[in-house]
Amino acid sequence: MVQQHLSYKEMTDFGCFYTPQKFVDKLIEMVKTNVDGYAEYTYLDSSCGYGAFLKSLYPLRTIGCDIDEKAIEKAEKFYPNSKYYNLNALSGFTRDSINLNDSDKLIIIGNPPYNDTTSRVKNDIKKAEPCVIDDDIKTRDLGISFLLSYNKLKPDYIAVLHPLSYMIKKANYDLLKPFYNNYTLIDHCIVNSQEFSMTSKSKGFPIILAIYKKSKNVFKYSDVLGLNFITSDNKSFNLKHDYIRNYISKYPSKYKKYTDGDVLFFTMRDINALNRSRTFIEELSDNSIIIDKNKIAYYCYVDVFKDHIDKLPYYYGNCDVFINNSDFLRIKDVFITKSVQKHPWLKSKISYNENTDFDLIDNYFKKLFQM
Ligand SMILES: C[S@@+](CC[C@H](N)C(=O)[O-])C[C@H]1O[C@@H](n2cnc3c(N)ncnc32)[C@H](O)[C@@H]1O
Repeated sequence: MVQQHLSYKEMTDFGCFYTPQKFVDKLIEMVKTNVDGYAEYTYLDSSCGYGAFLKSLYPLRTIGCDIDEKAIEKAEKFYPNSKYYNLNALSGFTRDSINLNDSDKLIIIGNPPYNDTTSRVKNDIKKAEPCVIDDDIKTRDLGISFLLSYNKLKPDYIAVLHPLSYMIKKANYDLLKPFYNNYTLIDHCIVNSQEFSMTSKSKGFPIILAIYKKSKNVFKYSDVLGLNFITSDNKSFNLKHDYIRNYISKYPSKYKKYTDGDVLFFTMRDINALNRSRTFIEELSDNSIIIDKNKIAYYCYVDVFKDHIDKLPYYYGNCDVFINNSDFLRIKDVFITKSVQKHPWLKSKISYNENTDFDLIDNYFKKLFQM
């Protein structure tokens, strides 16, 4: 059901992008195939919106919570067969808050809000902190806090949609360590964020429909790196690449001082960020890296990679720029020549052997992107 009662600003503050019905159905189907005796569990959606998941679980036992009173009012009309609580699921939230016992068999299901409260995108309309969050689950992203709140309720399974970046970016995985210590991924499907209405006007990012099971085994970061991810259109991909961070620094260093003749490059984040940001720059700022000129070819590589991002599937959006180093080194002068053509001011600052055989670059990316 499409969200109707909030403004765009309110939606952004609370991460209120309701889930398309086809993903609600898909996640429930995944629960049914992965959980023996799925009908014996209580299902909790602690950020239920209008109750799309709860209604689709009929006739099973369900509980819905939402901080938004109007959403709960609508949910009560839309699907009266569920219990509802108008509460903040990130503060003082326990099984007691929803009258559940420790022994009740529980599955948490849903699509929590995700909004990175430190991200620069949309900062002008985003509140720094949209609701009170308990200290032990407070992070820079509401969705990460939600996953940590699930962990505290100790459900048997967690069936949830979340950005794949929560799992594959090491800094996010580290924030989620208490969660991954107790929950292991047992099934998944990757979908494109562009399929959610009103989000991702730019290039989409990958969202995972995940089924996690309570487990005594830790779900380690090395397990994530070993995964073969499957998308809704049956493509598969993994993270076993060689990345640019293995060759150059992606961030500015406090210790390097700028001198005349230095070459500057914009801070690098993931591939989607590179798609939006600049590469070689002429002015010094907090975001400029003073590059090691011995590594100029690798910076030119990133600069030229940017021009080929549109050929890359959305699911690589949260990865770092990747590289086939041996193939690249054979044609590095072509990459430098291409960059100098794009940024003519570079020519006087670096030395290289000109090579304009740009077909070599196209062939390189065809092979790298397996097209
Ligand atoms: C992405 S929407 C999902 C709604 C619904 N589960 C669906 O998929 O259609 C997120 C919901 O989380 C709610 N929400 C945001 N912060 C919350 C909080 N701290 N506690 C409970 N609900 C919250 C919002 O009001 C919104 O309805």
